[in-house]
Amino acid sequence: METTLKQFIEVQLPEIETTLYDLVEKIEAPAHLKESMLYSLKAGGKRIRPLFVVAVCEMYKKPLAASLVVGSAVEMIHTYSLIHDDLPCMDDDELRRGKPTNHVVYGEALATLAGDALNTLAFGVVARLENVTAEQKLELINLLSVGAGAEGMVGGQILDMDGEQRLLNIQELETVHVNKTGALLRFSIESGAVLAGASEEDRKALVAYAHHIGLAFQIQDDILDIEGTSEELGKTAGKDVAAEKSTYPALLTLDGAKQKLNEHYNFAIEALQKVSIETTLLQQFAQYIVRRSN
Ligand code: IPE
Ligand code: IPE
Ligand code: MG
Ligand code: MG
Ligand code: MG
Repeated sequence: METTLKQFIEVQLPEIETTLYDLVEKIEAPAHLKESMLYSLKAGGKRIRPLFVVAVCEMYKKPLAASLVVGSAVEMIHTYSLIHDDLPCMDDDELRRGKPTNHVVYGEALATLAGDALNTLAFGVVARLENVTAEQKLELINLLSVGAGAEGMVGGQILDMDGEQRLLNIQELETVHVNKTGALLRFSIESGAVLAGASEEDRKALVAYAHHIGLAFQIQDDILDIEGTSEELGKTAGKDVAAEKSTYPALLTLDGAKQKLNEHYNFAIEALQKVSIETTLLQQFAQYIVRRSN
């Protein structure tokens, strides 16, 4: 990993995780519900979404406190989506972030409710942000609702399930990836731009970057499902082939998927040229995403 990004992660990751855990630990809720929520949050994960929120803010040299909270909110939504994605009625997975999945430990009912609670808490922590204008908060809540819901991640998950019943074409598959994975990554980058007060032009360029990063991220996830081991990934490898799921490698072959990955990497880097500030950190993020092994 490149030095700038490595240093950034070393400094910000502990800040993000402390903020995230504090936000959940301080709520008043039944103990076993909180335990189940914290189990999946604390299991680890790359924290790529909160890192993006904080990175964009830092690039504009804006105070980071609010970005840590917004980053925590998107990590809550992401973690809930993983808990639900792993349920027997969905991907039926028993390993996540190197640990038994939430429902394996807590049962399906509690796992489902822990997901629901993380989903709803995310909106609460944005609503309660300090030192952010009411207008910005409304905009963030709206963007999060669009990115996480039927128009974004949840909509993408539905289309993704359709892709197990029949082979999707490449346009349909792109729509799946843009929504199921791209929408939350887009929120992560766009919310950073909102908090930083970035210009309309910059925001547009950052959203274009996010679009290609979202696609690249899920294409690499599909490739790793084939090339990675369960141990490296912390989740069961080979699930997509077993489910006969429509993925980039399934539609384009492994080499074709790698070529697409590279195309989206290049488009993402190109989009950054239109941003008015120094974007080294985001360039390095793009590299990390296409080279990652988990
Ligand atoms: C996995 O996301 C699910 C996808 C959207 C591809 P991540 O690869 O970001 O998972 P964690 O957060 O690091 O566990
Ligand atoms: C899930 O996609 C994306 C989500 C919104 C959770 P996958 O089903 O490919 O994610 P993994 O491979 O289980 O992490
Ligand atoms: Mg899935
Ligand atoms: Mg899955
Ligand atoms: Mg996957």
